[in-house]
Parts: sequence; C-alpha cells; structure tokens
Amino acid sequence: MNTQAAHRPSWAEPYKIKSVELIRMTTREEREQAIREAGYNTFLIRSRDVYIDLLTDSGTSAMSARQWAGLMMGDEAYSGSDNFYHLQDAVREYYGYKHLVPTHQGRGAENLLSQIMIKEGDYIPGNMYFTTTRLHQELAGGIFVDVIIDEAHDPASRHPFKGNVDMQKLDQLVQKVGADHVPYISLEGNVNMAGGQPFSMANLRELRSYCDQHDIPIMLDATRTIENAWFIREREEGYADKTVREILREICDLTDGCTMSAKKDLLVNIGGFFACNDEEIYRKAQNMVVVYEGLHTYGGLAGRDMEAMALGIEEAVMEEHQAARIGQVRYLGDKLRDAGVPIVNPIGSHAIFIDARKFLPHVDQDDFPAQSLAAELYLEAGIRTMERGNVSAGRDPETGKNRRPALELVRLTLPRRVYTQAHMDVVAESVEQVYLRREQIRGLKMIYEPEYLRFFQARFEPLT
Ligand SMILES: Cc1ncc(COP(=O)(O)O)c(C=O)c1O
Repeated sequence: MNTQAAHRPSWAEPYKIKSVELIRMTTREEREQAIREAGYNTFLIRSRDVYIDLLTDSGTSAMSARQWAGLMMGDEAYSGSDNFYHLQDAVREYYGYKHLVPTHQGRGAENLLSQIMIKEGDYIPGNMYFTTTRLHQELAGGIFVDVIIDEAHDPASRHPFKGNVDMQKLDQLVQKVGADHVPYISLEGNVNMAGGQPFSMANLRELRSYCDQHDIPIMLDATRTIENAWFIREREEGYADKTVREILREICDLTDGCTMSAKKDLLVNIGGFFACNDEEIYRKAQNMVVVYEGLHTYGGLAGRDMEAMALGIEEAVMEEHQAARIGQVRYLGDKLRDAGVPIVNPIGSHAIFIDARKFLPHVDQDDFPAQSLAAELYLEAGIRTMERGNVSAGRDPETGKNRRPALELVRLTLPRRVYTQAHMDVVAESVEQVYLRREQIRGLKMIYEPEYLRFFQARFEPLT
C-alpha cells in the first residue's frame, strides 16, 4: 500500500471536521420513558433521544464537502440526467459491470433481481441470509438455503474468511434439486449477519469454476464489498501489494451482477442499484424498475443523489479511508475484548457484534436476550444498537416457530466518518458497566409482531 497511512500503526482519519451536528444528552429517567414508549425496540426510539447512534451504518455516513457540492450539480431532468451517466461510468470503472439500473436503496434492487430470476419453488443458496434479501427471494416464490461454512455460525471461531461458501453444502443442494432449480447463488461481501465476515478470493474462484460447470450465475450483494476487498488484501496470500480498487474489480469480474445498498460502502444517505453484464436480464430490470421505482435513469433517486453516489464510490476505494474505517471498528472491538465482553471474532469491518448468549446465559432465546441487551445499553448511556438474533431471524414459514438462530447478537454498528475515538471510549465504558450488572438483566416478551421483517416494528414488555 503506497500511502502515508500504510507506514503508521495508528489509524487517524483522512479528513478534518468542517461542520458538526450537536447531540443531546439525556437523563436516566428520560431514557426509561423513551425505551418504554418505543416498546423496548431500539428501532422505535426517536433519534433526538439518542446520544451515540450505533443502530446501523446504513445511510448514516457523513458525506464529504465534495459530495455536498455534488448535490448542487444535480441534473433533475426526468429522463437522461447527467448524474445517471456519471454514476454509470463510475460503476463501470470501479465495479466493472456493463449495465446499471439505479434503485432507491438495496431492497429495491433485491426486488428486481428476485422477481426477474426466481421461479416458484426455486432454491437460492447464499452465504448466510440477510433479512431483506431473503424476504424478497421468498416473496418471489424461492427458498433460501444457507451454504456458508459452519465456522460462520460460531462466534468464537477465528477463521479469517468466515464469509466463505461451503462448496460441499452447495454441491449437495445442486445434486438434490438440480441446477435448473437454482437460478443463481446469492453471495454477500463482508457478511452482515455473520458479524461482517469476508469471503476469500480463493473461495470465490472455486465458486466461479463450480458455477461455470453448472451454468449458475453468481449475483453479488455488493453492499460492503469494498470492505471485503480490504480484508482480502490484509489476510490472503498474494494480495498484500494490490490496491483495494484492484481487488474490488477482481471480485466483480468473477461475478455476473450485483445488488447494492449504496447507503453503506458508498458513503451516501440514500441510494442503491442493480448492475449486471447480461443483456436480457438488464432489459428485464430496466422494464421492471419503472413499475416499482421510477424511470431506468433515476430509479427512485434524485439526480443529486446519483451524483453523491458516483463521488462516494471514488472516496470509498481510497486506502486511507478504509484504514481509518476499519481501524476505528477494531479500536472499539479491542477495548471490549480486553474488558472480557464476549464478541464475535475476528472483528469485522462495519460493526462489533456482542454475543448475547454468552453475555446473558440465563435468558432463554425465546425471551430475546439480544433485544433485552440492546434495550439495556440504551438505558445505560443513550447508546442505540440493534438486535441481530431471534427477533431478526423471524419465524420458520413451515413450523411457525421462532427460528432460534445459532447467532444471538447485538450489533454496535459504526457510521462512517461520524464519531470520534472519544465516543468509542464512552461506548466501551458503557458496555462494560452493563456487563458488570449482567446478572440482573431479564428477558422480554413480544407483545406486537408485524408480519414482515418483524424486528423493525415489533414491541416488547419486560418479563417480570
Ligand atoms: C448486506 C445487506 N444487503 C442488503 C441490504 C438492504 O439494503 P437497504 O437497506 O438499502 O434496502 C442491507 C441493509 O442493511 C445489507 O446490510
């Protein structure tokens, strides 16, 4: 890596702060009221009642001055906006896909992909589910099958590429149902639900050759693939001297298309896209996007949003940006680990995941330990986090029972370029305080359960 950042052990940010947003501190009484009113669901707390917001890294990044300036360059023509062509050029250059269809965010692209490629009764293998991705696959009549390696389900395993596909699991599925019933494999970079864990290039190459033999396309969830590229450079033999940009391109060249939530890697507050190389799939996506999102040259976005996204791609592949991004996440993770707090290892790129099963071994999974812990962290210091466990996993459509996933986690997700090292210290101190009184924490009872993606709007009550 040929930059100044490479020669320092520290991870200082490659920017200075020009404008700040004031945040409010609350009293314990105010937080008790806020969490009660939110039904003990951190998604339902008003942001004005939050001190440090680690709910998500989605759409929460700070844009750069040049991105804000880019907003003023928005060409708000209904059709053929200049910003669309700028974005298309950037996607072609950095990701390498020929065709681009913008969408309002990632799930808009997932809807297009699922509706176009999945037939009733098809099977979609993937390296662990993501909530919206799997739901769109199911709504299109498909059945998701998890083919990630077993290590991904073990928070203690130090496997460097826990996002890898288990080729045997994949082959077993293909042998069982036939390649004709596998419309594509859904491959996610830096697997969110596994703790932000990357796949390796070697694994992707093996997957490519398998898929070529069986004529199965690989569709990438590119949401955090730039961060995945960083880990490949850091951990995989032969990549130490490559740039993140080169590795990103190599990943995409081994795949057939992607869905993208630009709200993560790409440093924007809204946006996404579907991209592919195949002409026919592109035509279908172009046709379908007008039903759900808007014309194929804006897909639910304003011209200015596409401009900010095109500029965001350039900033996201900068080595210094990724060094600081991943450095900050590690700083927090190391502090928690040193304090004995059980977290998912290795530390991923976008978040620290606390192992709520280990943190609260006395709370049964159907009493939602991760949800309870997230509520408790908010009560302690106004820190907002997210449950990624039994609530997020939802119910098995066949049995109607909670899925009780192996991973019962609380996600402390770091927005990009937003908080300082001192904020991380506050977070670490607060988690430690809760850890010291963990035995007093009880579970929750769900009193309202929405039909889809229940974690967003479910309501709970403390168990007495
Ligand atoms: C891996 C992954 N895929 C897809 C999505 C969905 O994207 P969006 O929230 O932009 O609809 C997300 C969002 O969190 C994600 O993390």
